[in-house]
Amino acid sequence: MAETIVFGGSFDPPHRAHLALLAAALRRRPRARAVVQPAWRSPLKGLPSASAADRLALTRAALTGLGPALARRVILDPWELRRGRVCYTFESLRRLRRLRPLDDLLFLAGADSWDALPKWRRPAEVARLCRFLVGRRPGAPVPRPGRGLPALELLPGTFPDVSSTRLRAELLCGLEPPEAAPGTLGLIRSRLLYGSTLRGRLARELSPERFAHTLAVARTAVRLAVRHGLDAERAALAGLLHDCGRALRPEAMAAYARRRRLRVGALRETARRAPLLLHAHISEDRAWRVYGVDDPAVLSAVRKHTLADAAMSPLDRLLYAADACSHDRAFAGVARIRRAASRGLDAAYREALRVKLQFVLREDAWLHPGAAAAWNASLGDA
Ligand SMILES: [Fe+2]
Ligand SMILES: [Fe+2]
Repeated sequence: MAETIVFGGSFDPPHRAHLALLAAALRRRPRARAVVQPAWRSPLKGLPSASAADRLALTRAALTGLGPALARRVILDPWELRRGRVCYTFESLRRLRRLRPLDDLLFLAGADSWDALPKWRRPAEVARLCRFLVGRRPGAPVPRPGRGLPALELLPGTFPDVSSTRLRAELLCGLEPPEAAPGTLGLIRSRLLYGSTLRGRLARELSPERFAHTLAVARTAVRLAVRHGLDAERAALAGLLHDCGRALRPEAMAAYARRRRLRVGALRETARRAPLLLHAHISEDRAWRVYGVDDPAVLSAVRKHTLADAAMSPLDRLLYAADACSHDRAFAGVARIRRAASRGLDAAYREALRVKLQFVLREDAWLHPGAAAAWNASLGDA
């Protein structure tokens, strides 16, 4: 019987693990053809950050990385993208069953998709329509067949653990991750995808030194997020925008804060004694108004990156620490923060806060009451 391998995904962006999985499936089934279906939107994820047209172009470019012999057996199918709505697997399988009534359908997936299958729409119908070819992750438990689930066949070997979220985060920071599928980086550059426009605007508005610091903080934030299990894309965005209000002269910062009615503790005294401290609230305001970011978690981290706060979320702590220990920092005490950052975010945040407060005291400078409250809160209830 003829076989069709069905491979769907957001492909936002496509990466080397996608290609490795598809190549392994094509080699395992040397007579099968494959249909690759970029999803308009994956039902279990948020909106993708590249448009449908861009993801189609990226996927087309990525598939050339299979080499001509394998690529010849692959059809790129934009049906889901063109529908312009969420499309469930059972729907695309029904369609393929209609189009290829004699074919055996083999749904190709990573082990994480297999694990999530019970949460899919109509898993029993999916089980009737196709069998699954599943690629394992190194070190992860072996996927197991189950009652009511489709027939399962494991591909030999394991496949690298590459996350599109992490790739997007690294691209946002201006990096060119080696896990990106060959042929996609040029397109990402030429189509200004994954944060190019945002970085361009920051580069125009900030001084070269501030922009370099911004990229360094965003990259440190991504590294810490990956290490400590936080959302790397949010960390990248918070890092990129944390100083976007810094281009203003300190004299203009107080006027800005009053005009926009920013809720800064001890505003009058801050404006008189240390107006530069206002840049965090201004950055939050601009992140929202100018850069269109409406994610409260990202905005909170930007707002709290200078004075900290009695209530600090994990992302708030991460950005506070990343700003203090990015690779461009060279003050005494930075090594202590970096060591703490390898232990955990709480340790890194407390060390960064300690180093900053010590600096204020050493300089005989004014201590913002919010920073003192943050320190007291960091001690916990003991
Ligand atoms: Fe800052
Ligand atoms: Fe900064």
